[in-house]
Amino acid sequence: MKTKFYITTPIYYPSAKLHIGHAYSTVVTDVFARYKRLAGVPTYFLTGTDEHGQKIQETAEKNGKSPQQFVDDVVVGIKELWSKMRISYDDFIRTTEPRHEKVVQQIFSQLLKQDDIYLSKYQGWYCKFCESFWTDTQIGEAKVCPDCKRAVHPEAEDAYFFRMSKYADRLMDYYQKNPLFITPESRKNEMINTFIKPGLEDLCVSRTSFSWGVKVKEDPRHVVYVWLDALTNYITALGYGSAKPELYEKFWKDPQSEVIHIVGSDITRFHVIYWPIFLMALGLRLPDRVFAHGLLMMKDAKMSKSKGNVIDPLPLMEKYGVDTVRYYLVRETVFGGDGQFSPEQFVERINTDLANDFGNLLNRTINMVNKYFQGVVPNFQGPISEFDHQLSSLTSQSIQDYQTLMNQLLITEAYAKVNQLVARANKYIDETQPWNLAKDPGKLKALQVVMHQLIYTLYVAGTLYQPILVTTSDAFFLQLGTKEKPTLKAIADPKVVNGLKLNPPIPLFPRLDPLIEVPFIQSTILKK
Ligand code: MSP
Repeated sequence: MKTKFYITTPIYYPSAKLHIGHAYSTVVTDVFARYKRLAGVPTYFLTGTDEHGQKIQETAEKNGKSPQQFVDDVVVGIKELWSKMRISYDDFIRTTEPRHEKVVQQIFSQLLKQDDIYLSKYQGWYCKFCESFWTDTQIGEAKVCPDCKRAVHPEAEDAYFFRMSKYADRLMDYYQKNPLFITPESRKNEMINTFIKPGLEDLCVSRTSFSWGVKVKEDPRHVVYVWLDALTNYITALGYGSAKPELYEKFWKDPQSEVIHIVGSDITRFHVIYWPIFLMALGLRLPDRVFAHGLLMMKDAKMSKSKGNVIDPLPLMEKYGVDTVRYYLVRETVFGGDGQFSPEQFVERINTDLANDFGNLLNRTINMVNKYFQGVVPNFQGPISEFDHQLSSLTSQSIQDYQTLMNQLLITEAYAKVNQLVARANKYIDETQPWNLAKDPGKLKALQVVMHQLIYTLYVAGTLYQPILVTTSDAFFLQLGTKEKPTLKAIADPKVVNGLKLNPPIPLFPRLDPLIEVPFIQSTILKK
């Protein structure tokens, strides 16, 4: 197991307000980062914004702003959203920052000098009116510009190209030697069959048709292709190529650091083909893993602003609290598959897992310890009954399984284990019937064991939920009589809860009434 951890989200286009689909990438990455910190692993978590390119330039113009002013304004909102969602990033990189732009130029120069990048002609169909090049498929049989529908003409312009094909074999070799590099497996097969097997084409890495980008130092008519610019954020943010490369050396260069990119499935190709090839050309190490998660859809279609079916996380968080939204995002969709946002499922998920199972367990248990032991948790004495043994071994097994699964990025399975543990503890109350044990003074020890074990199980579950439930976990541990939130190491020992003085129970997750909440959530959908 590696000793350090570097995890990144994609950097988002600040072209419009972000929606719950973007929040999905970021929340899941945040949960992994928080988990690693909980496990005591030195961790660095990066997010940011991808601010160059024609689209941003055009959107800024439409809004009557300079591109820089436009992105500056949008980024304020993005940072506010992440702060409200309690995203614990260590750094936020913007590709318009000098620390990034300078290094992009350096990288381009090096690749040019090495002859990995060469000057040639970009052939395509040109629309004079829109000043844009289009491909054969884009213009269709009518041979018209897909934007303005005017006739297009074959034309060529100077452009720089990257020799992708030169690295294809080395890339395949890396895939073979690192079977987890691209996950889920289905994405890997898609990449190999669609892009690598037919032969990698050289990639056009500069543009002259617009100016909002990093200028090629050697030839300032050109700006660097936005994906070459964007992908390098993962190392420029760490200080690669700068006078202060310490973080780069610690979290990227050192093979003891595990490097993980979390991306949406729509941008897999850039991360598993172009990015590793750029790194090989630069002579740098490659990431350990690129995990491509699925996309969140609405019932009938992909969430998109133009369709007018976008879920904004802000009103949901304002009404139900940040933790319920974080929990829903992590737990509802199988990580790696596509998901569907549904107001009914949102309400159901919160009610079942948080209000009923977890919340009830907490409530019932605290009430019983208050009633039978004046709120003081009995000391650990080891399991007695068959039921004690079962819950005790499930609890230690769950701690193990959770960590193994999280280390493999199997976050859905990891949290399913925590849910199972909570469900098992609720069942344990029904099995052991503490209210009957309390009636018989001869069963005092049995009652102590049951109460200790319930609190310990809660303590464990609360700790494993901590990376998701970042605000309620303060209140949760306060009810269990501890201000300090435990680490993963601490919960291995059942004695950790001995003698805790509990506080009165307060419901953490009130039950949501679907008749009221489903229409409310529907009313928050951002229409066109
Ligand atoms: N700027 C590029 C990424 C560059 S990374 C070097 C980009 N930006 S984006 O803003 O369009 O998308 C960022 C991420 O959000 C992508 O991973 C994308 O998959 C994700 N999502 C956008 N809509 C989404 C959903 N509806 N559901 C889940 N993720 C979604 O691409």
